[in-house]
Amino acid sequence: MKKLDKTYVTNARFMLHGGDYNPDQWLNRPDILEDDIKLMKLAHTNAFSVGIFAWSTLEPEEGIYNFEWLDQIFENIHKIGGRVILATPSGARPAWMSQKYPEVLRVNEYRQKQLHGGRHNHCFTSPVYREKTQKMNRLLAERYGSHPALLMWHVSNEYGGECHCDFCQKAFRNWLKEKYKNLKALNDAWWGPFWSHTFSDWSQIESPSPIGENAVHGLKLDWKRFVTDQTISFFKNEIVPLKEITPNIPITTNFMADTFDLIPFQSLDYSKFAKHLDVISWDAYPAWHNDWESTADLAMKVGFIDDLYRSLKQQPFLLMESTPSYVNWHPVNKAKRPGMHLLSSMQMVAHGSDSIMYFQWRKSRGSSEKFHGAVVDHDNSSENRVFKEVAKVGETLEKLADVVGTNRPAEVAILYDWENNWALNDAQGFGMESKRYPQTLQEHYRTFWEHDIPVDIITKEQDFSGYKLLIVPMLYLVSEETIARLKGYVAGGGHLVMTYISGLVNEFDLTYLGGWHPDLQEIFGINPVETDTLYPKDVNYVEFNGKLYTLKDYATVINRKDATIEGVYKQDFYKGTPAVTSHSYKNGKAYYIGGRLDHSFHQDFYQKLMDELSIKPVVSVKHEKGVSVQVRQDHEKNYIFVMNFTEQNQVVFFDHVVKDLITGEELSGNLDVGMYEVKMFEQAR
Ligand code: GLA
Ligand code: GLA
Repeated sequence: MKKLDKTYVTNARFMLHGGDYNPDQWLNRPDILEDDIKLMKLAHTNAFSVGIFAWSTLEPEEGIYNFEWLDQIFENIHKIGGRVILATPSGARPAWMSQKYPEVLRVNEYRQKQLHGGRHNHCFTSPVYREKTQKMNRLLAERYGSHPALLMWHVSNEYGGECHCDFCQKAFRNWLKEKYKNLKALNDAWWGPFWSHTFSDWSQIESPSPIGENAVHGLKLDWKRFVTDQTISFFKNEIVPLKEITPNIPITTNFMADTFDLIPFQSLDYSKFAKHLDVISWDAYPAWHNDWESTADLAMKVGFIDDLYRSLKQQPFLLMESTPSYVNWHPVNKAKRPGMHLLSSMQMVAHGSDSIMYFQWRKSRGSSEKFHGAVVDHDNSSENRVFKEVAKVGETLEKLADVVGTNRPAEVAILYDWENNWALNDAQGFGMESKRYPQTLQEHYRTFWEHDIPVDIITKEQDFSGYKLLIVPMLYLVSEETIARLKGYVAGGGHLVMTYISGLVNEFDLTYLGGWHPDLQEIFGINPVETDTLYPKDVNYVEFNGKLYTLKDYATVINRKDATIEGVYKQDFYKGTPAVTSHSYKNGKAYYIGGRLDHSFHQDFYQKLMDELSIKPVVSVKHEKGVSVQVRQDHEKNYIFVMNFTEQNQVVFFDHVVKDLITGEELSGNLDVGMYEVKMFEQAR
């Protein structure tokens, strides 16, 4: 029941609406700053992330500070009842700092020292940069910590990347010493004698490099772990004064997604980072209306990553950045079609966001982001299409205050693991192009999304026990500890699904010897003995429940022990052998899917499990494909979002009476939902 309790991630009891506000770019235009205040009200906005890249304005010369402009901005925002999400400016630093203290500049993996320029490029170990950021943050906290408009800290911006300078090499070696204690343990874990890679002194160890070490998997995996830990260590150094001076102001940093598939950001292990944040926030830039997938396909991917970021802390998250129209960094920067802005924004809310924020409030006049979509365009007008659509989102959010703090209890979980993704991508073997671990998870998620069944995307450390069904695709790297937790889950009555390429290596990326791990064999009643990788044009088929399904990319040859055969391969040297198995273990059941099967298989396979386990949508709404119904809940009510991600009008059917959250109208039965339209309802539980 815990998840039905409201969790307010900030002290605001309303949906946040606003975005990155960079007044430091407009200080010589007081008229524009005046206009901002008027336009903020017209746009129905109430929260602004300020000062993200303002260091050169805040400290134009070393030790010379200039806060007066920011005082004024605080007052301006406060005057209209708005809230400030105050940024620490470490995402970009002034030129004087790089010039005077070159150690703050990053060294890349080729060991080339970078010049000053761009942003997001500091050395995360540099003592000087740590000192400077902490000092600046202290001044900000002292000056604004008790300002009534201060809502939250936005620490730095989109942490990412790595540095290979001497400070970082030393820190990496210390990190390794801490972990392994002695070189023998390290050499054993990294399989040292392979290609004569046994180290005889700690000083011989270097971070991975295309011109140096690139083949020792254990080293590469540890380096990625170190990069996450060192980034968190930098972040923790940044927040010392914030915690000290403003212990009640929540802290976030904005997370990201990767690639057009909108998979979780890969460079940092957010499951670790999340533990140090009060609030998860992230920046979402889906390429709506692209020419390679349907709108509904993309919406499914958005749902997946939202459910991951919500599940990281099992509480609402904040959408920290999005664009009201287009971005400037996709290969083609297409405008959101009418309606899409409201629809895509409400989808974020439906999956757990308590905000809709933009990059950025006002379009820059110069430099590389001058054509990135913003609330206020170069025309400075409230009359253009984009501004009006933003204002409509604002008006809509004002009606959704009751939704703030509510969650999405789920009976199904899919496990996502950052370390597994690193190790699997690094694994030389299988298909170089076809592993696609995060995308495979999206495919498993798809069936539940299509059935409007809420799913938590959880990490290996989270509690499994509350879920009826736990799906663990392609968990190549799995520690004994996780195996024991999976075993406990099934023994306790859980239903576990695992797939091909699972359970092959331990947390050092060393393979298990003597067959599959005995505990996995015990749970699943099988021993997978060979993984066959297919060429892109190859297909096989699996017969399951009397139907044939297409298999691509991967097929596992399974040695059955006492599992039940649910499906068999139809071709090749493993024709007639088990492809899908099930096995009762203590109070639960474990399923193994040996091949990469098509969507129709997932539909039928999971439908059977949903029936058996009586997993149902929170509210039953009949609709065609491409419509998504997502629900947030508290003890009293369901908040229902009906979203049409198709280019046609749709009719949906409610068998209950629901109340329109916008118009207050009660209705049941058939309801028209136009192309890209979203409708929101509440229903007593
Ligand atoms: C070459 C090398 C071997 C091994 C194989 C792998 O032949 O000599 O050490 O790496 O490739 O195919
Ligand atoms: C990121 C950054 C912003 C801005 C946007 C543009 O999310 O955090 O500063 O550059 O991208 O899409």
